[in-house]
Amino acid sequence: MPLTILKLGGSVLTEKTGAPTPEPEAINRCAREIASFHPSADNQLILIHGAGSFGHPQARKHNSPEGFTNFGMIEIHRSVKSLNDLVIKALIENDIPAAPVHPFSYMIAEDARIVDMQTAQIKMMLERGMVPVLHGDVVMDRTTGASIISGDQLVAYLAARLRAARAGLGTAVDGVFADGTVIPVITSENFDAVRHHLRESDGVDVTSGMLGKVLELIRIDIDSYIFNASKENMIARFLAGEELGTRVTKTMEKGK
Ligand SMILES: Nc1ncnc2c1ncn2[C@@H]1O[C@H](COP(=O)(O)OP(=O)(O)OP(=O)(O)O)[C@@H](O)[C@H]1O
Ligand SMILES: [Mg+2]
Repeated sequence: MPLTILKLGGSVLTEKTGAPTPEPEAINRCAREIASFHPSADNQLILIHGAGSFGHPQARKHNSPEGFTNFGMIEIHRSVKSLNDLVIKALIENDIPAAPVHPFSYMIAEDARIVDMQTAQIKMMLERGMVPVLHGDVVMDRTTGASIISGDQLVAYLAARLRAARAGLGTAVDGVFADGTVIPVITSENFDAVRHHLRESDGVDVTSGMLGKVLELIRIDIDSYIFNASKENMIARFLAGEELGTRVTKTMEKGK
C-alpha cells in the first residue's frame, strides 16, 4: 500500500481513427515513465488500458439489436488482447513485472455494469509487487448475453473496491474542456452545470468518450485525474503525486 490506479487511454496507445494501429513509441514512452515510479509491494500500481482502434471499431461492427454473436465476442476479445500483449511486452522490457489480467476470462456484468469480479488474485499480485494490467473488454452479461466494459469503468470499480489512494485517466487531451479551458474540478455539485460540455469522442468510442469517463469517476469518493498522457512526462508527474488536468470526485471536500 498505498495503491494507485492508472489508465492509459486507447487514444494514447493507438491511432484511434481506423484499423487496429498501435503507436509503439507512445507505448514505450508510457512504459518508461511508469518504470520511473518503481512500482512495488509498498508502492502498489494497477494499470488498465483502453482499447482504442483494437476494440471500439470491432465492438461497433459486431453490436446489433440481438447482441454480440459468439464469434463477434471472440474477435473483439482477441483484438484487445493483442494490444494488451504489446503493452505487457513494453512494460517487461522496462523491468516492470506486468501481469495480464483479462476481464473476459473472469468477470460478469449485468446491463453493462460489473457485478461479479474476483479481486483476490489481483491483491495477491500487488502484495508481491507485481503490476496487474487489465483492459477494456467484452464480458459475459447476465442481462444482454455479452457487453463492453470500458477501461474507465474498471478504474472506478477497482478504485472503490480496493480503496485506491488516487486514480488517473491518461488520455490524449489536457483534461475536460469547457469553452477552450480545462475545468479544474468536477463533482456532483457542479456536474449539472458542466454536463453540456461533455461529449463523446472524436474517434470511434463505444463507451461514450469523455462523458463516459466523468460519469464513471463521479460515482466514487476517490480523487481521480483526467490528464494528457500523450504529453511527455505527464504520467511520471501523475505517479509522483502531482495534480494534473481535471480532478473528478463525488464531493467537493478534498481527500474524502
Ligand atoms: N469536454 C470535453 N473535453 C475534452 N475532451 C472531450 C470533451 N468532450 C468530448 N471529448 C472527447 O473525448 C475524447 C477522450 O475520450 P476517449 O474515450 O476517446 O479517449 P480514451 O479514453 O483515451 O480512449 P479509449 O476509450 O480507447 O481508452 C477526447 O479525445 C475528445 O474527442
Ligand atoms: Mg473511451
